[in-house]
Amino acid sequence: MSEFDTLLVTGGAGFIGSNFVHVVAERTPARRVVVLDKLTYAGNAENLAGLDVELVRGDIADPEDVGRAFQATGTGGGGGAENIAVIHFAAETHVDRSIESALPFLHTNVVGTQVLLDAARERGVRRFVHISTDEVYGPIPDGVFTPEDDLLNPTNPYSASKAASEHLVHAATITHGIDAVITRCSNNYGPYQFPEKLIPLMIANASEDKPLPVYGDGLCERDWTHVRDHCDAVLAVLERGRAGATYNIPGNTHKTNLEVLHFLLDVLGKPRSLIHHVKDRPGHDRRYAPDGARIQSELGWTPSRTFDDAMEETVRWYQDNTDWLERVRSGEYRNYYERHYGERLKT
Ligand code: NAD
Ligand code: TYD
Repeated sequence: MSEFDTLLVTGGAGFIGSNFVHVVAERTPARRVVVLDKLTYAGNAENLAGLDVELVRGDIADPEDVGRAFQATGTGGGGGAENIAVIHFAAETHVDRSIESALPFLHTNVVGTQVLLDAARERGVRRFVHISTDEVYGPIPDGVFTPEDDLLNPTNPYSASKAASEHLVHAATITHGIDAVITRCSNNYGPYQFPEKLIPLMIANASEDKPLPVYGDGLCERDWTHVRDHCDAVLAVLERGRAGATYNIPGNTHKTNLEVLHFLLDVLGKPRSLIHHVKDRPGHDRRYAPDGARIQSELGWTPSRTFDDAMEETVRWYQDNTDWLERVRSGEYRNYYERHYGERLKT
């Protein structure tokens, strides 16, 4: 048996988690994958269609559900998980929703992470990869790139809950000797992203000639990483990352939101007049910019995709998958959209 021959992937029915399971199936098909996912509004079993994975529906904050997921990997209680790695993607992830209501973010991102850490420790899990975000650094001044040792300065409930979960992971490595590694990737784009996030939301709206609601002046800057590059980096960290280390995962593509929208509108052949400036997000972080020197020098990883090609490919994916988009936009999301954008778009 090789190391990490079984992966327990939390949040594997969401955007990045499902792309990760696809990448594992392509690169290392001998690996066994169990997904633990609550299938919230953001989770979709259809994202895993055609893959040989076992999906356990459950809450990472519920020890019984986590126990069922471990049982599905072939390990019950009390050890036996020496070849298993936990890849922990599950989270509440949307900043705007965290501003509206923070408690679900504490339940899943903070309590859920601790429940998983406890279960991993009890069973002797070989490695725990904690998927975090560059948002834990808070807003970064122009010209500055944040190395991993920078102070954490989260400014909204989502990023604060992610920073809290990182502290719990770090504490488990020091107190209990868990082999854990933390990753902090920048903003992702690609297939299967829930259309509340900037890129799929704007592709969907522009395709239907609906207004594109840009917060404030549209000059906030993000570093964009294609989701497949993120997944490759997570595999590198799983297999070769230093125990106890934290790795930034940058896309090295810095764009203002308006630059992104201009690009999308050009690819779609739609006019810039669709852009509609709306009331800004409270506490909107102006800029994120993680420094990628550590992952490059220690693991030899750099992103392989260029923004223009990968974003064009992403636009085509959403154009080719309008059924998927329709299905995930039905139900709760329609209420969210109306509640969040209704008034904003009237002004
Ligand atoms: P997502 O919202 O698309 O998916 C989250 C998944 O977690 C869903 O399948 C959902 O059903 C599941 N989930 C939520 N609560 C759960 C719970 N209590 N128990 C079990 N499953 C639960 O999120 P994503 O964009 O794929 O993000 C995945 C991870 O990557 C998160 O930890 C996020 O913080 C991190 N991250 C995201 C980005 C980004 O740009 N999207 C960038 C850097 C890091
Ligand atoms: P988002 O995709 O929510 O990711 P994050 O806030 O985690 O970086 O937003 C990306 C950027 O796009 C961010 O600066 C907020 C902005 N944005 C808008 O201008 N309008 C929108 O409707 C959304 C969802 C985001």
